Amino acid sequence: MIIAIDGPAASGKGTLARRLAEALNLPHLDTGLLYRATARVLLDHGQSLGNEEAAVAAARSLALTDFDADLLRGRQMGEAASIVAAIPQVREALIEMQRTFARRPGGAVIDGRDIGTIICPEAEVKIFVTASPEARASRRALELKGQGEEIDYAEILEDIRRRDARDAGRSTAPLKVAEDAVVLDTTKLDIEAAFKAAREIVERRLVKSRQ
Ligand code: DC
Repeated sequence: MIIAIDGPAASGKGTLARRLAEALNLPHLDTGLLYRATARVLLDHGQSLGNEEAAVAAARSLALTDFDADLLRGRQMGEAASIVAAIPQVREALIEMQRTFARRPGGAVIDGRDIGTIICPEAEVKIFVTASPEARASRRALELKGQGEEIDYAEILEDIRRRDARDAGRSTAPLKVAEDAVVLDTTKLDIEAAFKAAREIVERRLVKSRQ
């Protein structure tokens, strides 16, 4: 069973995907890390994020075991990842790795922006997790504060809006709701309520697919 979870930055999709994977005993891939790791290779080598050739080479050089998620999850890397993710050849270079992970026997939970639309259109369960930009900015601010980062709510909200516009406006694999996805709006839900709702979506889909 493939469970595809998509949604904008700081929507809570990563936490939901991780919790669903634990509950269902499935492996989980956070595909944002692939784009973050690609951006990091460029920055570590002093190369521009717009250098397509270097970005494709960086994407091709990744192995799924390479990631230090703590190093990659900072705010600046999210913005940098969104820039390299808009390069079509970078996306192309990362497709196979994602599909191989998702299509392993037994299935997987995989989250990102284009999982239900491009990477795994065949996924049995597709959830599009969203929340208002203000709710997402508040959550991100709390999270960053917890990590000891200086935060300015207005700047974080601006970051989120800019990232939404870039991720949804690019020509290749833009962030959008797959036709057969269930939208889960978490604006007014805490993580427990969102997790319960996600589990119910999975169960409903599975019952339906057995009919
Ligand atoms: O999910 P995240 O915030 O870690 O993702 C970082 C950036 O990577 C995001 O702004 C856009 C890009 N991304 C993407 O284009 N496609 C994916 N499947 C996952 C992430």
